[in-house]
Amino acid sequence: MTTANFEALEKEACETIGHASDLKELESLRVRYLGKKGEVTLLLKQVGSLSQENRSVFGQNVNKLKSSVESALDNQKRKLSAVSSEKSIIDATLPGYHAPQGRLHPITQTIREISDLFLRLGFELVDGREIETEFCNFTALNIPLDHPSRDAFDTFYTENGALLRSQTSTVQVRIMKDRKPPLRIIAPGRVYRPDEVDASHSFMFHQIEGLMVDSDVTFSDLKGVLSVFLKKLFGPGIKTRFRPHYFPFTEPSVEIDVNWGKGWLEVLGAGVVNPKVFEQVGYNPKKVKGFAFGLGVERIAMLRYGIKDIRLFYENDIRFLGQFR
Ligand code: PHE
Repeated sequence: MTTANFEALEKEACETIGHASDLKELESLRVRYLGKKGEVTLLLKQVGSLSQENRSVFGQNVNKLKSSVESALDNQKRKLSAVSSEKSIIDATLPGYHAPQGRLHPITQTIREISDLFLRLGFELVDGREIETEFCNFTALNIPLDHPSRDAFDTFYTENGALLRSQTSTVQVRIMKDRKPPLRIIAPGRVYRPDEVDASHSFMFHQIEGLMVDSDVTFSDLKGVLSVFLKKLFGPGIKTRFRPHYFPFTEPSVEIDVNWGKGWLEVLGAGVVNPKVFEQVGYNPKKVKGFAFGLGVERIAMLRYGIKDIRLFYENDIRFLGQFR
């Protein structure tokens, strides 16, 4: 065999090995070249039988061939095992992981939707606090502590005389003490009352408070704003009824009912801000007028979605919560 023959064989062997597509094929190539009866092995065996002068060139050639084949086998083996271990981690044929998409709680959705309607009417969204003073929850709102109306606002008290607000009307007091008129605000948030829990009562629920104060705000403004709001929320066909009521912090006061063919349902408490409240927060009742309203978020959500039990909102049952958009 000439040196050129060796080189041709080496080239062919290395190429074949480089194309082996798996470890099994590679092993059969190892046997083909380096096994007991392998092509390279047989050439090696010939070395002994050659004459002195032929032996040295042939020997060098065959050794070079052998080590080339060995390193080609090694290289290919490394490549193939890298690929095969990669394969065991990433199997592109498996279906992908499904990340379930969360959604907003129906109460949050309702709060955002209602807030949005008022924002479009020029109201501003403000925040209040859940732990409050007797002043903000009662006194400033013209509810003396010994007044019978206080029974309607049964309250959780903390040990140091603070309380969990029983109505978002506390925000009226805070915002007026903080800022000068004119004001147009809404304030959504949690309120707490020690009620027996049942299908329509919870010790915690959500309200949205609204307050508009300016130099010449009247009951017609209240009626206009709240009628537009209810039509936007429940649809243009909704009937509304403003029924006289009593709240210590508004005078006159109303409860507002809606009707879409199933009888009248109360959805809002509202009224013209009582001058006594303005006095408590340091506004001049001769110079400012206003109206205020409060609505129960759960109640509205229950009416709109036909939910019969308020407790469903708080149980975190995905089967229930997943139904809202
Ligand atoms: N705070 C009253 C309630 O919880 C609702 C209300 C708010 C009434 C503002 C009038 C004005 O029942």
